Amino acid sequence: MQHRYIEKETDHPVFLLLHGTGGSENDLIPVAEMIDPDASILTVRGNVTENGMARFFKRLEEGVFDEEDLIKQTTHLHEFLDEASTQYGFKRDEVIALGYSNGANIAGSLLMHFKHSVRAAILYHPMVPIRDITYPDQTGMHVFIGAGEKDPLVDVAETNELIERFQSQGIEVEALITAGSHQLTHDEIAKSKQWYESMIRKK
Ligand code: MLT
Repeated sequence: MQHRYIEKETDHPVFLLLHGTGGSENDLIPVAEMIDPDASILTVRGNVTENGMARFFKRLEEGVFDEEDLIKQTTHLHEFLDEASTQYGFKRDEVIALGYSNGANIAGSLLMHFKHSVRAAILYHPMVPIRDITYPDQTGMHVFIGAGEKDPLVDVAETNELIERFQSQGIEVEALITAGSHQLTHDEIAKSKQWYESMIRKK
């Protein structure tokens, strides 16, 4: 996968950055640096293009995913993490996914397909990526979700459904639902930083 690896302090986690539709591997670097300036960064560009826009998996229409491709790309990303940890020498069990929109959806799909593919996740404006499968148990995992009440792509009912599905996997979820829309807000970043410091870094 097209990617960049930025090594920082080796005793901090590694952020796996997953951009939104039409974004690039550079988009979320400032967000990761706001949350933990000392965490290394593995940032990936989506393998699929839709009218020139990079995405992590194909969709049939807005909000309707091509599940076969979703499963294929999720597996590919999971295997890429194994390869990248060997190539760059970071701890495989210290990866924290940080995704926005389409990137949050493939991160959610990782959690719903593979046990311990990541240690934790920060998901901004995620949807339920896949429903009719048996999810693995992820007891002990922590996930932060940021959402917007007026998000035209993800309504609050879907955010709540996603939270319940994660909880059924044993995941501890903290969510912030702002009065905003689909854009990532400063409040979500600030709240996810607080969550990261208390749940992940335990400062
Ligand atoms: C997007 O455009 O990124 C959608 O809201 C989410 C998706 O297609 O995965």
